[in-house]
Amino acid sequence: MAGAFAGKTIVVTGSGKHKGLGQGILQAFADEGANCVVSDLAIDAEALAVAEDLRARGAAVATIACDVSRADQCRALVDQAVERFGSVDILVNNAGIGFKMKPLLEVDTADEWDQVIAVNLSGAFYCTQAAARAMVAAGKGGRIINIASQAAKTGFPHLPAYVSSKHGLVGLTRASAVELGKHGITVNAVCPNHVTTGLGAQQNEYFSKLLGFASVEDYLANMAAKNPMGRPGLPSDTAAACLWLASDAAFYVTGEALNVSGGEEMH
Ligand SMILES: NC(=O)c1ccc[n+]([C@@H]2O[C@H](COP(=O)([O-])OP(=O)(O)OC[C@H]3O[C@@H](n4cnc5c(N)ncnc54)[C@H](O)[C@@H]3O)[C@@H](O)[C@H]2O)c1
Repeated sequence: MAGAFAGKTIVVTGSGKHKGLGQGILQAFADEGANCVVSDLAIDAEALAVAEDLRARGAAVATIACDVSRADQCRALVDQAVERFGSVDILVNNAGIGFKMKPLLEVDTADEWDQVIAVNLSGAFYCTQAAARAMVAAGKGGRIINIASQAAKTGFPHLPAYVSSKHGLVGLTRASAVELGKHGITVNAVCPNHVTTGLGAQQNEYFSKLLGFASVEDYLANMAAKNPMGRPGLPSDTAAACLWLASDAAFYVTGEALNVSGGEEMH
């Protein structure tokens, strides 16, 4: 298949949900000819439909279950992707838990704090290490992109573990970039503002009530009005940033945390 990423293989964790950022990223790379690995906690009917849509766009697709909070499963994900396509050229650490909203004073340690850190931060580390080992062994360089958040730059209420995990993900981005540059591997983070995905929809419900809006629609209209570009984010905004960061043109960009927020976040 022709396209800027023809012959390259991209693995996106947590990409088995309809209208998720992971699906949007894979669609953009499928349209540019990449081999796509759809991965999620389970390869259920929804994940299979995500894969079918990518095949309809002309991509070669593999579906591989992986709980990113398990290091052994992250290694198996990379091994199986290499077995299927010969290499992993691009890893996107997208899997995340962002729907456990609670005031800091009430957060449960095991169920909320530990689980969010295990998925959003430790999971990205396990996959980074596994993919980087394969990239170094292959000797062709590579691209690692971490889907962080506006919450990697600014504090938000009732999301202490999420905000901490996303700030930590920027730290992991910088630490990995420093060590992997000599292998031709760049590591960057993308920091989207609010996007109404499955995860985003649960945040809409919670925060519209918390902030006293009459409806979710009013809450979203207020969010749009405050954004310099006049709307919340879309999966295609994040996907476009990933396409560029994975391109040859971005070879000299590494260790960055790129805001994709319509100007809502500026540092
Ligand atoms: N939606 C937003 O507003 C927004 C904004 C900034 C950043 N993000 C980040 O984007 C990423 C994707 O989120 P989304 O909004 O598309 O929501 P989503 O719910 O569609 O995607 C999250 C995915 O992570 C998967 N997941 C959860 N636990 C997992 C685990 N242990 N192992 C593997 N996969 C697991 C879920 O099954 C799901 O497919 C997340 O990291 C999120 O924090 C989202």
